[in-house]
Amino acid sequence: MQTYQAIKKRYSCRKFIKKSIPKDLIEKLVDAGRLAPTARNIQPWEFVVITEEDKLKEIASIVETGRFIGEASCCIAVFCKDTKYYLEDGSAATENILILATDLGLGSCWVAGDKKPYSEQIRDILGVPQEFKLVSLIALGYPAEEKPFLEKRRLNELIHWEKF
Ligand SMILES: Cc1cc2nc3c(=O)[nH]c(=O)nc-3n(C[C@H](O)[C@H](O)[C@H](O)COP(=O)(O)O)c2cc1C
Repeated sequence: MQTYQAIKKRYSCRKFIKKSIPKDLIEKLVDAGRLAPTARNIQPWEFVVITEEDKLKEIASIVETGRFIGEASCCIAVFCKDTKYYLEDGSAATENILILATDLGLGSCWVAGDKKPYSEQIRDILGVPQEFKLVSLIALGYPAEEKPFLEKRRLNELIHWEKF
């Protein structure tokens, strides 16, 4: 798939069929995450891959905006060391994963991690050291829903050539 096609096709998928994702595909996704741009090449990230159903359900029970994680086949929790640009770095890694997931025929949804009341609890459940911050939880699986129609702002409304 062309990159632009994958960008256009990506949507937040919150319903998944019961089918596990092969390990090599999950590794590819994390590989895409680790290759994201990162301020001063610090690469502050760590990726925790959760595939066990009990763990997925436990996370879902804590994350009120991510109950569907309990039905996902996989969740990648993106953590970053608390560096100056941890949020930008972790977000870039997250987006790379979402785009590649689309390309691989997977559904995905970015679930908030940073600034959330459950961030520390998730970190503790996953045994992540305290110096790391949760940036995102990425729900993944084979989609059981089509892309919904969502109004997106038009290009000519938001592009400003040379001057706002
Ligand atoms: C920083 C961030 C946090 C998000 N958190 C959640 C979340 O907690 N739960 C959820 O269902 N979707 C979450 N989303 C997905 C957005 O709701 C979604 O991207 C938006 O509605 C646009 O829909 P689309 O991704 O299908 O284009 C988040 C997206 C971003 C970028």
